[in-house]
Amino acid sequence: TKQKLWGGRFTGKTDPLMHAFNQSLSYDKRMHSADIRGSIAYAKSLCLAGLLTQEEAEKMTQGLQLVEKEWQDGTFEIKPDDEDIHTANERRLSELIGPLGGKLHTGRSRNDQVATDMRLWLLDQVEELESAVKAVIGVIVERADKEKAILMPGYTHLQRAQPIRWSHLILFHAFSLHSDLQRLQELVPRISVLPLGSGPLAGNPFLVDREFLAKELGFQSIAENSMWGVADRDFVAEFLMWSSLCMVHLSKLAEDLIIYSTSEFGFITLSDAYSTGSSVMPQKKNPDSLELLRGKCGRVFGNMSGFLMTLKGLPSTYNKDLQEDKEPMFDAVDTVGASLRIAEGVLSTLKVNGEKMAEALTMDMLATELAEYLVRKGMPFRETHHVSGRAVALAESLQVPISALTLEQYKQLCPLFEADVAEVFNFESSVERRAAIGGPSLKMIDRQVAVLREALSK
Ligand code: ARG
Repeated sequence: TKQKLWGGRFTGKTDPLMHAFNQSLSYDKRMHSADIRGSIAYAKSLCLAGLLTQEEAEKMTQGLQLVEKEWQDGTFEIKPDDEDIHTANERRLSELIGPLGGKLHTGRSRNDQVATDMRLWLLDQVEELESAVKAVIGVIVERADKEKAILMPGYTHLQRAQPIRWSHLILFHAFSLHSDLQRLQELVPRISVLPLGSGPLAGNPFLVDREFLAKELGFQSIAENSMWGVADRDFVAEFLMWSSLCMVHLSKLAEDLIIYSTSEFGFITLSDAYSTGSSVMPQKKNPDSLELLRGKCGRVFGNMSGFLMTLKGLPSTYNKDLQEDKEPMFDAVDTVGASLRIAEGVLSTLKVNGEKMAEALTMDMLATELAEYLVRKGMPFRETHHVSGRAVALAESLQVPISALTLEQYKQLCPLFEADVAEVFNFESSVERRAAIGGPSLKMIDRQVAVLREALSK
């Protein structure tokens, strides 16, 4: 009995363990729609090439649509010998339309078929991910606009550095995601290359019209080399690299929010919807959502490095190693997609505690401002830095903030100090003075918001 599609030359049975090891249907069935779309287009191209009559092509298309409907309705019955989504769909097609089903695979191979399915499937996912990235950026932009003015300490080395605005901080994360958005869009032309019509490796002998196939399936270009067409998985590798970088950005955002939500900082409060409790300590409210965003970065990175290892050193064209492309791709799509949605939820529901942020601003954070005051009086910055440093040291030894030193004391440090030095000690004006493009002044926050809104509208 010929049960397997490739069973003709075999007399011995497959070891059941080998069947389980070899099969990919348990996970590649999620590409069923892409597989059917590819097959319908291919049936049409066979008709154009004179290998199917109009009537046969129509019957085949209807059969394929029926198979797809079974998947949609959850009635598709998987048979023990089904190996992957391609063999399962073709087996079912033949059950539905009889021997005509056997004409579908004319000149086609699972090698060009699977590469086509993967690309079609990923293109759809990229569209979804694009809107998920946009949604996170959108939430940040709205928050930044509404909570524009709130001041907070900015940190380097996690040490208080200079006053900034809360809006400036979250927009920082939005700009990282904005670059992810651009990178994602730039992947599309390299995913959108048609392999179908490459055959197993050496091209299609029936002169199917690949330009027709590309147009029919919405591909931007055509694989110009059939061996490359069946073998290229750079688009998967690149997508995994994109996913890794996007997760790096989400994990950094998560880390900031975790730190700021501690009682020690108290800058933000996570909503209950994205926190969990402790089974032991009743007082606990843990930022599990954020910790998972941080942790899942490792998983996606593992998908990337694992798959690059799979690709390394493969001989030309198709080798079964390539079947290992699917699980990392699926997992990355699922993980990044869920992470983006969680980030959106966390960001849209957390509460900002502006008072806590203001309390954490200390006068020493204006030491740079003090140096800049002297720069405005004509002193070279390197010298002003020293003077300001001595003011910080003096204030520290007197155990007062630098704003409490007297004008006399300032004049002793440097004769250029005048009564208007008092104006230095204002966090709001410090931030507002940083009004060059990219700064945290209100006008520049507005500009950032406008730039991102523009990017989101595309
Ligand atoms: N399930 C296989 C894969 O995902 C389809 C291609 C099989 N091709 C072959 N020559 N055995 O790679």
